[in-house]
Amino acid sequence: MTASLGPPGVVNIEDLRRLASRRLPRAVFDYIDGGADAEITLRENCRIFDFVTFRPRCAVATPESDLHTTVLGVTLDLPFLLAPVGSTRLFYPRGEAVAAREAGKAGTAYVLSTFSGTSLEEVKAAASGPTWYQLYIAGGREVALAGIARARRAGYSVLVVTIDTPVSGFRERDVRNGVRELASRKVLEMLPFLPQILARPGWVAGFLADGGLMNFPNVVIPGKGPMLYADVGVALAQSMATWSDLKWIREAWGGPIVIKGVLTGDDARRAADEGAVAVIVSNHGGRQLDTVSPTLRALPEVIEAVGNRIEVLMDGGIRRGSDVVKAICLGARAVLIGRAYAYALGAAGGPGVARAIEILRTDVVRTLKLVGCASIKELDRSYVEWSPETLARRQ
Ligand code: FNR
Repeated sequence: MTASLGPPGVVNIEDLRRLASRRLPRAVFDYIDGGADAEITLRENCRIFDFVTFRPRCAVATPESDLHTTVLGVTLDLPFLLAPVGSTRLFYPRGEAVAAREAGKAGTAYVLSTFSGTSLEEVKAAASGPTWYQLYIAGGREVALAGIARARRAGYSVLVVTIDTPVSGFRERDVRNGVRELASRKVLEMLPFLPQILARPGWVAGFLADGGLMNFPNVVIPGKGPMLYADVGVALAQSMATWSDLKWIREAWGGPIVIKGVLTGDDARRAADEGAVAVIVSNHGGRQLDTVSPTLRALPEVIEAVGNRIEVLMDGGIRRGSDVVKAICLGARAVLIGRAYAYALGAAGGPGVARAIEILRTDVVRTLKLVGCASIKELDRSYVEWSPETLARRQ
């Protein structure tokens, strides 16, 4: 472990967040850190874990803690996967490949966003673990079909269709930081926002050495080439997936499909009816519709609706291993982490991501021992309790 990533400086994910804020230009840090509108859901995603308390079984010896989890028939060494995070290459040179490599080394899966700065083939080559491809219908159906075909050829095993982005959420920090202007490639528009970038010369050097201005190599527009990096908001507004798209997506992919962005039992049932093998209870990390439920609150309703038909994963607000354990106690098969590894990548590249994974892994082991449970697969609701008004409204 790089000395600066160990204790006493870095003992939790928040420490990696602080390091990321020092290395990254404000526009990049806030792109990771921020959420939509007043950021209520972003905050609640994390805060709700405080209202779930453990009911430990003491004086139980658990010399070994078994973290293995089976997700869609594949055994992972960890109960958390790396979530799709767009434009990761802005955080660190070849960021997607770097993160995928660390996920594989740790024995877990990496989910690559359509809006990645590194080609899906390069990411696949870097990853030794399972890789899933997250689909946005960016550039229209033909472009998406070409992306799906490439992902299949490259060996991605699962297609994740994100359904919570009919438009981009209104991310006020991005507007204030000039994300649109900085992506415009017009010097005059960029000028007012350049000081924050130049204040981070280390990041600038890495960014330029990595090729500078990004494009999206997985979104290839016929006759034009890879979609240019632009304000992701604009790209998202043209990328909506509807239930009726699932038919052609399913036919083109021919493998397991996971629906990401489910918050209600109704949508979960619809996803199962449309042939999804799993759903991810997610509100996009509070980046889309503000004041939707924090995901941990939505989880029991989704489990009740489809838990006996398909697998239920969840993401949002995971910052500690105890959060992972709580989500699994409430019925999630496994969780995905977004910012927890994105901060780490922005802070220190591959060693940062390895450190974030290690922090969460050791947290999970410690939590299992403290609650007196030997394995992830044995966790259930009897290990937690929650206050009705904050979590399970229907209880
Ligand atoms: C995301 N997320 C996301 N989801 C998706 O399906 N496609 C994408 O391209 C992105 N891009 C993206 C960028 C950034 C900077 C963040 C922080 C998140 C959402 C992500 O997959 C996941 O749902 C959340 O990050 C989970 O919440 P936490 O773990 O960040 O609290």
